[in-house]
Amino acid sequence: METIPLLKDKRVVLGVTGGIAAYKACTLASHLTQAGALVDAVMTEAATRFVAPLTLEALTGRPVYTSMWETSQRGLPTHIAHVGLGHAADLLVIAPATANTMAKLAHGVADNLLSTLALAARCPLLLAPAMDVGMWSHAATQANVAILQGRGAHLAGPARGRMASGLEGEGRLLEPDRILGHIRWVLGRGGSLSGRRVVVSAGPTREPLDPVRFLSNPSSGRQGFALAQAALDRGAEVSIVAGPTDLPTPVGARRVDVTRAAEMQRGVLEACAKADVLLMAAAVANYRPADVASQKVEKGQEGLVVRLARTTDVLAAVAERRAETDCPSVVVGFAAETEDLIENARGKLEAKDLDLIVANDVTAPDAGFGVRTNRVMLLDQDGGVEELPLMSKAAVAEAVLERTVAL
Ligand code: CTP
Repeated sequence: METIPLLKDKRVVLGVTGGIAAYKACTLASHLTQAGALVDAVMTEAATRFVAPLTLEALTGRPVYTSMWETSQRGLPTHIAHVGLGHAADLLVIAPATANTMAKLAHGVADNLLSTLALAARCPLLLAPAMDVGMWSHAATQANVAILQGRGAHLAGPARGRMASGLEGEGRLLEPDRILGHIRWVLGRGGSLSGRRVVVSAGPTREPLDPVRFLSNPSSGRQGFALAQAALDRGAEVSIVAGPTDLPTPVGARRVDVTRAAEMQRGVLEACAKADVLLMAAAVANYRPADVASQKVEKGQEGLVVRLARTTDVLAAVAERRAETDCPSVVVGFAAETEDLIENARGKLEAKDLDLIVANDVTAPDAGFGVRTNRVMLLDQDGGVEELPLMSKAAVAEAVLERTVAL
């Protein structure tokens, strides 16, 4: 896992309470640490029955706190843990959060280190509940959740699924990567794009030939989804218009799934109606089969000739709309090229009325379609060309968003 700029050097207090899902807190602690956060784990006594403090200490590289009184034994003033930890934190996340701990937090009970520091802390609170179905649905728990949410606490989950008891239902801890998404969402509020609406198009389109065949391209949607996440990290309100892809929706984003280029156009124009920024990363088909067979085309002895018709250009439609409404005010396009990269990209920047174009050479095996890395050039309207080295698609997204914020 690579560094996440939003999380770099952020102080995250990770409260771990006593439930079988506590083992998943280890993965969360590890991912947060790898992403660059400074993770102070605080465990309840019950949590230590499920996971050894040493495990979290090894994963975070920092001391783990398990008791109100223990800190004095380490030669630290006692107030450091229960007040200082909470005061210094950018976020308090409790994962898993048991019904018991949520009840304490809802009613201001401070009878262990975690509940005490939760009362003292003034940072955002994120709760990832995990408990038996009956405990979660109990009126007492639901009332406590309502109290906590009413006070501004954020809830991540619980998920529905199989419980350790063998029962099915709501009460499972959300998977660590989804909790991480919620953490990013909470920490991103108030960022450089807060109050801004960002539309991202991502993935391929599919143009049907008959009910079981289509024309498409190898776009995975990864670059677009990474852009959406980078915009969320900056506090934006994000809509993704996604062609066919299995990628999970980043936490906090609205998603509209589309298949054909015409649907992509409708989805993008609708989402753009009140947007500030459009990041047009989708690999939209330029051609579609002119006639779609209503039944499966059976093979014949001869070759098959398929006549193609042009699809409409989504960015051209956006440019038309923009001329009338000034909306969206920033449009970023993408150019996937196999030759004359800069020249072709500059032509598209001008022809499509873009503020910035992200150009990549899709012939390179480590860049462009279907891989996790990318090597791009950013071309702007003032003639500027910035060549970025090979990097992850998340890092490319960060660079594009930095430029977008400046625009
Ligand atoms: N695009 C679009 N509508 C289309 C096709 C592409 O809005 N019907 C957008 C893409 O999302 C991308 C940019 O236009 O942001 C790419 O420009 P385009 O000229 O379509 O590039 P190519 O698809 O590579 O086209 P060409 O074959 O002409 O190079």
